[in-house]
Amino acid sequence: MLTDLQKEIIDLKNEKNAIILAHNYQPGGIQEIADFIGDSLELCIKASEIEDKDLVVFCGVDFMAETAYILNPDKKIVIPDTEAECPMAHMLSSKQLEEAKQKHPDAAVVLYVNSLADAKAKADILCTSANALKVVESLDQDKILFGPDNNLANFVANQTDKEIIPVPEGGHCYVHKMFHKGDIAFVKENYPNAEIIVHPECNMEVQSLADYVLSTGGMISRVKESDNNEFIIGTEIDLITRLSREFPNKKFYPLLDEAICKTMKLHSLEKVKNSLINEEFEVSVPEDIAKKSLKAVQKMINVSK
Ligand code: 13P
Ligand code: SF4
Repeated sequence: MLTDLQKEIIDLKNEKNAIILAHNYQPGGIQEIADFIGDSLELCIKASEIEDKDLVVFCGVDFMAETAYILNPDKKIVIPDTEAECPMAHMLSSKQLEEAKQKHPDAAVVLYVNSLADAKAKADILCTSANALKVVESLDQDKILFGPDNNLANFVANQTDKEIIPVPEGGHCYVHKMFHKGDIAFVKENYPNAEIIVHPECNMEVQSLADYVLSTGGMISRVKESDNNEFIIGTEIDLITRLSREFPNKKFYPLLDEAICKTMKLHSLEKVKNSLINEEFEVSVPEDIAKKSLKAVQKMINVSK
């Protein structure tokens, strides 16, 4: 049952003709009032389809809200807490990317959507963890500069004949870096029949011990189609909140309870309410950067459809 605050938010949302988009890592209370919950790719596609709404409240991290703006520069996009940044996206500056491009002029540039808008503007195409291999395979070039996540770069490199050059060296997600192969052995001992699903941002040792390596959206699809009733989930903890809501008869065990993306949790129902009332905090990207990034975003959406 919804709380009074959640009901208030829904009334405000209708009054303002707003839509609330939320990433799979948002806390349960926000998931319950969101119009759409998804992984990075699903959120990009959803953002590209918004037509009849005046206000978009984006419950996710900075690069996701920026991407929604790039796709909807005429709409008001607001984020409940401006400190909600993805540290990985901030690991690759446009200067670093420019230097790498000069060093490898014959390489195509594929950037993970977890990157900042000015870096996206220098990419040939974007990707998410759901479509990274497909995006790389769609390109003519055999040499690919791939950033900022080195684990996702290696995940792709293991499945393609193309040369993948990670940029910058050491780019990673601190949440997925918490998982170690010992965690898999430990949880598996307690739940020997569970399917192990991890995210491609995990290190290669962890990936190699899993049954499936999937984006958060891919994890939801896998659970849906699997005959198994038990799953060990190697990603941010609140994906289990979504899985438990949607599949109440299946059991989910976190690979690690501490896998929390702190900035994703900066949003709260109170802040969502404030975003709706005061239409803040507005997200925007300088026009020239937004135009250049749009090409790379759009290209990815076209390859993914
Ligand atoms: P997904 O696209 O799989 O949801 O991943 C986004 C992300 O930030 C993972 O840490
Ligand atoms: Fe960024 Fe990692 Fe948080 Fe995803 S989980 S938003 S990659 S810090």
